[in-house]
Amino acid sequence: MEQNNKDHSPHHVTPVAVYVKVLLALLVLTILTVAVSYVDFGKANIFVSMGIATIKAALVMMFFMGLKYDTVLNRTIILSSFVAVALFLGLSASDLWTRPDIQPVKVAEVAATLTMDDIKKLEISTPELIAHGKEVFSVNCTPCHGANGEGNGASGAALNPKPRNFHGPISAWKNGTSTHSMFVTLAYGIAGGGMASYKSLPPADRFALIHFLHTWTPEIQTASAADSKYEAALKEDGIGAGSVAAKATMPVDFAISRMMAH
Ligand code: HEC
Repeated sequence: MEQNNKDHSPHHVTPVAVYVKVLLALLVLTILTVAVSYVDFGKANIFVSMGIATIKAALVMMFFMGLKYDTVLNRTIILSSFVAVALFLGLSASDLWTRPDIQPVKVAEVAATLTMDDIKKLEISTPELIAHGKEVFSVNCTPCHGANGEGNGASGAALNPKPRNFHGPISAWKNGTSTHSMFVTLAYGIAGGGMASYKSLPPADRFALIHFLHTWTPEIQTASAADSKYEAALKEDGIGAGSVAAKATMPVDFAISRMMAH
């Protein structure tokens, strides 16, 4: 007896030519899958790729698994499992897609809360700023500069030049001890040595550090070598006229220091 599509016997024999055609269709669809991954359809991305995947899965199930020639009952069982998955995905999606977007914290917004008036205030030493500076110092600076600021921290032992001894003669200072120059030191570091930039610390923390260090330095200069770079350093933090637009993301160490501040 001749086999045909209407024959529901479990021994249905599919002609080899059909298998070859389905195989070719699957190969074409696989190439298509890779091809569309290079095209950005925006929000439709998922529907396009899922659509192609569904056609591929349907071909496999219909021809290779023989569902096309199977009983209605078996097809219904398979179909119902897909309905269950669709329900599950649909319910999850309706939750995920209705959540508000999570926005990265903009450094510009944090820095923009500081105006030149705020800076003028931060330039003046207060007991609170000194106390805060002491904390920031013990976290960030003691490894090199030592707990007492004598430049004898363990991590600084091998450095050349040696970390600054904050109690030592100010003739040894390269940028100098004025508030403005020390802000420049913390913004840019000292080129060619072990003193790195601490731009990742919020400006207010840097002023706190400066006031704390001033409790050690034998003289707070009113003007010193790096003062001329002060305004440029402030601008890079988004403070003052013509300041650069701050980056849209939060630097890791800035984020850590914010976390520790709480
Ligand atoms: C990796 C080691 C290291 C760490 C950590 C470090 N410093 Fe330094 N610092 C140095 C070295 C080395 C110098 C001397 C650089 C030179 O003479 O070129 C220096 C110099 C300085 C100076 C003197 C600048 C001048 O005008 O000569 C200041 C101020 C300073 N550091 C502040 C700090 C503060 C505040 C911190 C913490 C936020 C800190 N440093 C963390 C190594 C370090």
